Amino acid sequence: MVRVQTLISADEIRGRVRALAKQISADYAASPDLVLVGVLRGSVCFLADLMREIDLPLRFDCIGLKSYAGTEGGTPIVTTELIDVVAGADVLLVEDIVERGTTLRAALDAVSALGPRSLEICALLRKAIAGQGPLPPARYIGFEIGPEFVVGYGLDYNQRFRNLPCIAIPSPADLAAAGATRNP
Ligand code: IMP
Ligand code: MG
Repeated sequence: MVRVQTLISADEIRGRVRALAKQISADYAASPDLVLVGVLRGSVCFLADLMREIDLPLRFDCIGLKSYAGTEGGTPIVTTELIDVVAGADVLLVEDIVERGTTLRAALDAVSALGPRSLEICALLRKAIAGQGPLPPARYIGFEIGPEFVVGYGLDYNQRFRNLPCIAIPSPADLAAAGATRNP
């Protein structure tokens, strides 16, 4: 049984996504070519909801990144390349959560190498942690949260909990169960 504690409800997310989409629709009204690029896999719920609230013609694509914990440098590598052409486009990178900014920096590097006309960031969550250091500047942020580990609305622990409709703090029992129930 899932005992997660709701931090941000589905209703609150819906309202904030609408507000972000309204702002984005205004900011990009004159753009000839807006492309949303979601960072796999955590951004899928946010990307799907956000793009349906944006009142402009747009394209979307996804980029996959994988971090190899324990290796030197720890820079994530691109595992899924963009299919759509983003050269000359106004690209809005859509990310689930920014913690140290490592993932975002790798995504920014990969996309900017493709020559977009502009490149901005839209992150659902920005997490405050001790010793965080400077983060890539995000033009759009959904919610600022504390250092707790969160799941739901695309965010996972061991690939679990992504389908929760809210952002939640999992209980230690839930984390233990999710860690112990990988496919045998
Ligand atoms: P960063 O690279 O340190 O900014 O961390 C961002 C990435 O770590 C996100 O794309 C998530 O995949 C993951 N992450 C960070 N914090 C959380 C969390 O609280 N829950 C789930 N995933 C997280
Ligand atoms: Mg992610």
